[in-house]
Amino acid sequence: MSRKKVTILDLQRKKNNKQPLTMLTAYDFTGAQLVDNAEIDVILVGDSLGMVVLGYDSTVPVTMAEMLHHCRAVARGTQYAFTVGDMPFLSYQADMAEAVRNAGLLLKEGRMDSVKLEGGREMALTVEAVSRAGIPVMGHIGLTPQSQSKLGGYRVQGKTAVSAHNLVQDALALEAAGCYSIVLEAVPEPVAIVISQKLTIPTFGIGAGAGCDGQVLVYHDLLGLFDRLQPRFVKQYARLGQTALDALVAFREDVINGRFPTVEHTYPMSVEEEAEFRRMIAE
Ligand code: KIV
Repeated sequence: MSRKKVTILDLQRKKNNKQPLTMLTAYDFTGAQLVDNAEIDVILVGDSLGMVVLGYDSTVPVTMAEMLHHCRAVARGTQYAFTVGDMPFLSYQADMAEAVRNAGLLLKEGRMDSVKLEGGREMALTVEAVSRAGIPVMGHIGLTPQSQSKLGGYRVQGKTAVSAHNLVQDALALEAAGCYSIVLEAVPEPVAIVISQKLTIPTFGIGAGAGCDGQVLVYHDLLGLFDRLQPRFVKQYARLGQTALDALVAFREDVINGRFPTVEHTYPMSVEEEAEFRRMIAE
């Protein structure tokens, strides 16, 4: 069957039919092409790019300009997956009109299909405003990395009955406000299961167990390219960091030992042209 571009309706249909959904992050053209070729449903240009690509110590410093730059690259590399651009810290919290404008820019200039923002009930009015502007919004609750300082670090959320109940209320409020989907990050499995059952829209879990409608991971974590933070929920499917390091060292050793480049990597010149060339420079 020929592949078609994934739409918001396909995501909802998969939830309704109990078919598991997949989402991965990507930050550039080549990465997006790989994720798209793997037939992943959704590509998220996460603000995790601040940590895994730009080397910041959190997602907080990421700017709209940086997001737009990476969103455009991912859009160029994506043919089929539904795309999501993350709204960076302070692009939507201070002012509702600014939130709508920045969300719009992620579609208009970043060429994304939708946006994601962090927060629960306190973000309901913003979600309403953005989605009223015709922009699909993915919510994100539980461990919300942009507020990790307020949360006291990268900690599991919803571990007590009261905080778990609060998460359910947040999820319901986001759905009522118009979110088409919600990310549940670092929450105990029973809480994620209840939320996923209560919501009609799909949930994507990251560190939320197998009861969510879909799963999301960070590209660099899955491929073993980033080891500064290694949360319990990450499954490493490859060790590309080590493979890359081995290749880089092999290059250096080949060069210093005269094994690279060889004839096969070198452009030849005809004997006559070379002779003429040597004659010219000898003059
Ligand atoms: O920024 C990101 O990569 C995310 C995922 C962890 C869901 O928000």
